[in-house]
Amino acid sequence: MISVNFNPEVDKEKVDKLLKEIAHDPLGGWYSLPKNTDMGEFVRIKEAAKEIQDSSEYLVCIGIGGSYLGHRAINEALRPKSDTKIIYAGNSLSRRELDWALKKVGDHDFSVNVISKSGTTLEPAVAFGEFKKKLIEKYGETEAYSRIYATTDAKKGALHDEAVACGYKMFTVPDNIGGRYSVLSAVGLLPMAVAGVDIDKLLEGASDAVETAVEPATKYATMRYTLDSKHYDTEIFASFEPATMYFNEWLKQLFGESEGKNKRGILPDSVIYSTDLHSLGQFIQDGRRNLFETIIDYPTDEMNAKVVTAVRVAHAEGGIPVLNIGVPSYDERGFGELIYFFELACALSAKMMGVNPFDQPGVEAYKAKLQELL
Ligand code: PA5
Repeated sequence: MISVNFNPEVDKEKVDKLLKEIAHDPLGGWYSLPKNTDMGEFVRIKEAAKEIQDSSEYLVCIGIGGSYLGHRAINEALRPKSDTKIIYAGNSLSRRELDWALKKVGDHDFSVNVISKSGTTLEPAVAFGEFKKKLIEKYGETEAYSRIYATTDAKKGALHDEAVACGYKMFTVPDNIGGRYSVLSAVGLLPMAVAGVDIDKLLEGASDAVETAVEPATKYATMRYTLDSKHYDTEIFASFEPATMYFNEWLKQLFGESEGKNKRGILPDSVIYSTDLHSLGQFIQDGRRNLFETIIDYPTDEMNAKVVTAVRVAHAEGGIPVLNIGVPSYDERGFGELIYFFELACALSAKMMGVNPFDQPGVEAYKAKLQELL
């Protein structure tokens, strides 16, 4: 069970009202997802993962933002064992990165999982065009199409229409779940299963958290709200496990896109300690006092645990409010709980600030501007 080391006074009536709003929001499907997993699709995901592992040395995962960060976070953190390696593409518009990924796949056998809810995002569309061409050159059209797995909207969008026309295997981004809350759907489950993550255990952890995370998430959201009202406008997520760097990236996207609107929101930043004690550590200890720190306290070895204690004490003495999120286990179950805990806390925090946790008008504005320029 996730634990926290703070105990703010919670306005229970207000929280219950906000939780009801979240559960009934048209984009609140993630709230009960771990308990309502579509078992038919879950079985198809496992079958597809096995098929990819049997046929491919590489799976190219194409996606950006919510269609990318969550599964990369878990794959990097758990370093699961699979003979099929994952290559990530379509998460920038850098020609250099795309060429690197194409070269890395080289002549090896590969499949592609293209992930885009809207089916129109430019970065994945560009990468998908290139990898589709490579598949066709290597295998011919029929086999190429059988090696494409499209995770997208069930009914609409350019990727959906192409997948239907070409007969790609399709997985669904549920209509009622937005990108950054979608890691426990097919968006994350297929790439994680191919990488060797035990997705049964991940969902078990998340499912338990549907009940057990409510109390700690409520306390954490309340603490954030209180700190925000005292002008602590920047949150540093601190982890002492280097492999969780992408989990920090997922957190930054989750909080940044959910809260940062209507001139509100706490700016999320992140560090990996002890590495960053030798860079940002100086600022955190001694610089401008508008920060609070949220330690994601994974179970760790004895020496590293001493660093956790030292940081907690030193930064508190430096005038930084330090919040501690205790993670029960460094495995699939623990990460399942942690994902759900943060999704819930983030949605609650945004609601407390009076902003919609589930839209992203700023991202859409950038997408529209880029389309115009192109
Ligand atoms: O969280 C979000 O909604 C965004 O970050 C999207 O996931 C991102 O823009 C990619 O969108 P799409 O899955 O439609 O390609």
